[in-house]
Amino acid sequence: MKKILFVLSLLVFVSGYGRLFASGAISHGGDIVYTKPVKSVIFSHKLHAEDRGLSCGMCHSGLFDAVALKAQQKNDFNMDSLYKGKYCGSCHNGQMAFASNTQCARCHAGVKGHAVHEKKGPVKSPASGPEGLLILGKGDSFVKFSHAKHAASLICGDCHSGVFPMSRDKTKVTMEGIYQGESCGSCHNGKNAFSSYECKKCHEKTPAPAVDLTYKNKGTGAVKFSHEFHKSAFKCDECHKNLFAMRKGGSRMKMDAMYNGRFCGSCHNGNTASNVTDCGKCHKG
Ligand code: HEC
Ligand code: HEC
Ligand code: HEC
Ligand code: HEC
Ligand code: HEC
Ligand code: HEC
Ligand code: HEC
Ligand code: HEC
Ligand code: HEC
Repeated sequence: MKKILFVLSLLVFVSGYGRLFASGAISHGGDIVYTKPVKSVIFSHKLHAEDRGLSCGMCHSGLFDAVALKAQQKNDFNMDSLYKGKYCGSCHNGQMAFASNTQCARCHAGVKGHAVHEKKGPVKSPASGPEGLLILGKGDSFVKFSHAKHAASLICGDCHSGVFPMSRDKTKVTMEGIYQGESCGSCHNGKNAFSSYECKKCHEKTPAPAVDLTYKNKGTGAVKFSHEFHKSAFKCDECHKNLFAMRKGGSRMKMDAMYNGRFCGSCHNGNTASNVTDCGKCHKG
C-alpha cells in the first residue's frame, strides 16, 4: 500500500510540482539542521522533494508544519517517536525509506559514539510560495488567491498545515466554514484581516448562495428561498436594488408588508407568481 502511495505521489510530483519547480515558481524549505535534543540531524528538502520526488503535501498535510525547527520544540521529537512511526519515522520505517534504527549516521552528523560527518553549513534558506494566482473553486464563486500578497506579513506555517494543506483542492472551502473561523476565516474575521462579509475583496463576482436560505418562525412551517430557482428568471438587481438586503435576515420581512405588495409579495401577488395568500406554497410542514 505504502509503495502504491509512493508511486502515486511520484506521479503527482512529476505532473504538478515538477512543473512548478521547472518554472522556478515555488521554492521549498532548503536544508534544516536540528540541534535539539542532540546535534545535529540534517533534513534536506532538495533530496526529498526534488531528487526523490516526494510531493509537498506528503509531509505538509499534518506531519510537519512549514516552519523550520518547529518539530524540535516538541518533547517527543526523539528516536522513540521515530521508531513508533511519527515524524521522520512515518517513512523511515524500513519500507518506504531506510529504517530509523539503522544507518544512524545518515541522519546524524555527530551523535556521541557515531561517526561525525562534518557537513559544512547547510542552513535554512528563505522560501516563497507559488507565484501567480491560485484559482479556488469553480463557477461564479471562484476566488483568486495570491501567495505574494499574503507573504508580506505571514510565514508559510501560518497557513500550512494547520489551515490549508500544501497541495491543491484538498480542502472544501465554504462560506459557512469561513464565517465560523475555518480556512480563510481563521484570519479574515475583521480583526486579523478584513472581514469575510466584504465579499468584493475576495470575489470578483458576488455569488448567490448555492443553498436555500431557510427561515424558521414559531407557529408556521419553515420557508425556503431558493436563489438557484429565482436567479434563473431574474437578475440580482431586480431583487437587491430595492426589495431585499443582500444579507439573510437583513430585510426584516413581515407578512403584513407582503400582503401589501412588498418583499416576496411584490411578485407573489397572483400575477407575476403564485399569490402570497397561498401559504403552503412557501411554508412547508
Ligand atoms: C519528506 C518530507 C518533506 C517534503 C516532501 C517537503 N517538506 Fe518542507 N519541510 C519538511 C520538514 C521536516 C520541515 C521542518 C519542519 C520542522 O522543523 O518542524 C519543512 C519545512 C518547510 C518550510 C519552512 C522553511 C523555513 O525556513 O521556515 C517550507 C517553506 C517548506 N518546508 C516548503 C516545502 C515545499 C514547498 C515542499 C514541496 C516542494 C516541501 N516543503 C516538501 C519536510 C518536507
Ligand atoms: C514522506 C516520507 C519521508 C519523510 C517524512 C522523511 N523522509 Fe527521509 N527519505 C525518504 C525517502 C523516500 C528517502 C530515499 C530512500 C532511501 O534512501 O531509503 C529518504 C532519504 C533520507 C536520507 C538519505 C539521504 C542520502 O541520500 O544519504 C536522509 C538523511 C533522510 N531521508 C533524513 C530524513 C529526516 C531527518 C527526516 C525527518 C526530519 C526525514 N528524512 C523524513 C522519505 C522520507
Ligand atoms: C531518519 C533519520 C534518523 C535516523 C536514521 C536516526 N535518527 Fe536519531 N534522531 C533523528 C531526529 C530527527 C532526532 C531529533 C532531533 C535532534 O535531536 O536533533 C533524533 C534524535 C536522536 C537522539 C536524541 C533523542 C533521543 O531519542 O534520545 C539520539 C540519542 C539519537 N537520535 C540516536 C540515534 C541512533 C543511535 C540512531 C541509529 C540506531 C539514530 N538516532 C538514527 C533522526 C534520525
Ligand atoms: C494565507 C495563507 C497562506 C500562506 C501564508 C501560504 N500559503 Fe501556500 N497555499 C494557501 C492556499 C489557500 C493554497 C491552496 C490550497 C487548495 O487549493 O486547497 C496553497 C497552496 C500551496 C501550494 C500548492 C500549490 C500548487 O499549485 O499545487 C504550495 C506549494 C504552497 N502553498 C506553498 C507555500 C509556501 C512555500 C508558503 C510560504 C512562502 C505558503 N505557501 C504560504 C495558503 C497559504
Ligand atoms: C493566516 C491568516 C490569513 C489567512 C488564513 C488568509 N488570509 Fe488573506 N490576508 C491576511 C492578511 C493579514 C492580509 C492583509 C491585511 C488585510 O488586507 O486585511 C490578507 C489580505 C488578503 C487579500 C487582499 C490582498 C489581495 O490579494 O488583494 C485577499 C483578497 C485575501 N487576503 C484573500 C484570502 C483568501 C481567499 C483566503 C483563503 C483562501 C485567505 N485570504 C486566507 C491573512 C490571511
Ligand atoms: C476572505 C475571502 C472571502 C470573502 C471576504 C468572501 N468569500 Fe465567499 N468564498 C471564498 C472562498 C475561498 C470560497 C471557495 C471557492 C469556491 O469553492 O468556489 C468561497 C465560496 C463562496 C461561495 C460558494 C460556496 C458556498 O459556501 O456556498 C459563495 C456562495 C460565496 N463564497 C459567497 C460569498 C459572499 C456572499 C460573501 C460576502 C458576504 C463572501 N463570499 C465573502 C472566500 C471569500
Ligand atoms: C427573486 C429575488 C432575488 C434574486 C433574483 C436574487 N436574490 Fe439574493 N437574496 C434574496 C433574498 C430574499 C435574500 C435574503 C434577504 C433577507 O433574508 O433579508 C437574498 C440574500 C442574498 C445574499 C445574502 C446571503 C446570506 O446568507 O446572507 C447574497 C450574497 C445574495 N442574495 C446574492 C445574490 C446574487 C449575487 C444574485 C444574482 C445572481 C441574487 N442574490 C439574486 C432574493 C433574491
Ligand atoms: C422578482 C419576483 C419574485 C420575488 C421577489 C420572489 N419570487 Fe418566488 N417566484 C417567482 C416566480 C416568477 C416564481 C415561479 C412561478 C410560481 O411558482 O409561482 C416563483 C416561485 C417561487 C416558489 C416555488 C418554487 C418552486 O421550486 O416551485 C417559492 C417557494 C418561492 N417563489 C418563494 C419565494 C419567497 C420566499 C420569496 C421572498 C423571500 C420570493 N419567492 C420572492 C418570483 C419571485
Ligand atoms: C411567497 C412566500 C410566502 C407565502 C406564500 C407566505 N409566506 Fe409567511 N413568510 C414568508 C417569509 C419569507 C417570511 C419571513 C421569514 C423570516 O424573516 O423569518 C414569512 C413569515 C411569516 C410569519 C412570521 C412573521 C410575521 O409576519 O408574522 C407568519 C406568521 C407567516 N409567515 C404566516 C403566513 C401565512 C398565514 C401565509 C398564508 C396566508 C403565509 N405566511 C404565506 C413567506 C411566505
